[in-house]
Amino acid sequence: RIAGPCSMVIFGVTGDLSRKKVMPAIYDLANRGLLPPGFSLVGFARRDWEDQDFASIVRDAVKQYSRTEFHDEVWDQLSAGFRFVSGDFDDDEAFDLLRTTLSDLDDERGTGGNHAFYLAIPPGLFGNVVNQLKEHGLVNGGDDAWRRVVVEKPFGHDQESARALNQVLADVFPSGSVFRIDHYLGKETVQNIMALRFANALFEPLWNALYVDHVQITMAEDIGIGGRAGYYDGIGAARDVIQNHLLQLMALVAMEEPTTFEAGALHREKLKLLASATLATPLSRTTARGQYVRGWAGGVEVEGFLEEEGIGPDSRTETYAAITLNVANRRWAGVPFYLRTGKRLGRRVTEVAVVFKRGAHLPFSDHATEDFTQNALVIRVQPDEGMTVRFGSKVPGTAMEIRDVSMDFAYGESFTESSPEAYERLILDVLLGDPPLFPRHEEVELSWQILDPVLEHWEASGHPDEYEAGTWGPTSSDEVLARNGHTWRRP
Ligand code: BG6
Repeated sequence: RIAGPCSMVIFGVTGDLSRKKVMPAIYDLANRGLLPPGFSLVGFARRDWEDQDFASIVRDAVKQYSRTEFHDEVWDQLSAGFRFVSGDFDDDEAFDLLRTTLSDLDDERGTGGNHAFYLAIPPGLFGNVVNQLKEHGLVNGGDDAWRRVVVEKPFGHDQESARALNQVLADVFPSGSVFRIDHYLGKETVQNIMALRFANALFEPLWNALYVDHVQITMAEDIGIGGRAGYYDGIGAARDVIQNHLLQLMALVAMEEPTTFEAGALHREKLKLLASATLATPLSRTTARGQYVRGWAGGVEVEGFLEEEGIGPDSRTETYAAITLNVANRRWAGVPFYLRTGKRLGRRVTEVAVVFKRGAHLPFSDHATEDFTQNALVIRVQPDEGMTVRFGSKVPGTAMEIRDVSMDFAYGESFTESSPEAYERLILDVLLGDPPLFPRHEEVELSWQILDPVLEHWEASGHPDEYEAGTWGPTSSDEVLARNGHTWRRP
């Protein structure tokens, strides 16, 4: 899978996302030989830069964040196609210049009129940019050339704003040309959920309410909001990652088998699942939210959220969120799905734990099973990518005693191939026009529809509960599970 001739324009190229993720991923793709030789990159931003200034900024970003080794030959070839266009998003001259720059690149580097426009900018600006692209004749490449637009989250802040945003894009680009990035879908371990479920005979027969007791989906981070106050304050944990990453993970874990792995078929199954997901109620007992206060992370004392630079002293933004979902279908009726995420938690870990019911009858004494809990299958999304199966085994000795043990699969031990970084995979898919890993607008809107009542409930219920940095969130979150006789895992 090697991309054909094309160029990419990045709007908001001076931002963090471009520097830390997009530009290093482009270099890594070039380094792996997956970009066409004439691939060109145009940066568009307000700065008064020349092409060389842009190239040197990209070079620094690549040196700092790329995952592959730096090779001068690769860099020289790639950076020969770097151009910079300076201007505002409402500046007609700048968009004229963008058009001539792109057509010059078509001639000089054979990019074939194929252009991807990457909007690494706040969603409030999507409209300006796509309308400018339209007015300057950049949206339609004719029969022989493609034009695509790539957008990043946040896709709005509720269902209504997401709809409006999708409309802004739909007015200008046909739906097949819009690529919405949810970088969790670019992760190898997330795609593996489909392989695990649908390639094997071992798991799927048990993957239902007869055998599954509950499911826990955790995305825990040890970092605080470090330097992202402007983005995070007022957004909070649920909008930042539950609406997108965690609901997508849940969809992959719980959906029915798609007929193929093509975009349409996959999308239909995810959509059906999201449409049957409902919040468990009452929300005061099935959800929890928190905000970290001063505590310890990695042996260092760290400040509380309200003390972070750029955060208002009265901010009610949650840095921890947990919700409970039910799925109204025959496979999952009665099985709670618990989703949680937080900043400044005990450690960085993302995992899906499918916890199984105990056998209806165990022919052992109570004493024999004291150290035996429940079977579980834990998909370790990151770090330490792999999977663990927990089950009971007889403890060696003269008595019959059962204890939890585990079997482990680790990517590092089973594969010599390295996993591409999520952004590498997704950018390559954009250039190839391969849509399965990009959520469609209905999925995004449905995810907001699921979450909106929680956000409204929290809005009306005062300050989030406090939790100390470095712990596993507020006790109110433990209580949510305790009410059903469950406990959060402490990975
Ligand atoms: C982003 C969120 O989508 O994902 C961030 O906006 C979060 O708040 C990040 O830190 C985590 O990504 P990853 O790939 O490191 O798990």
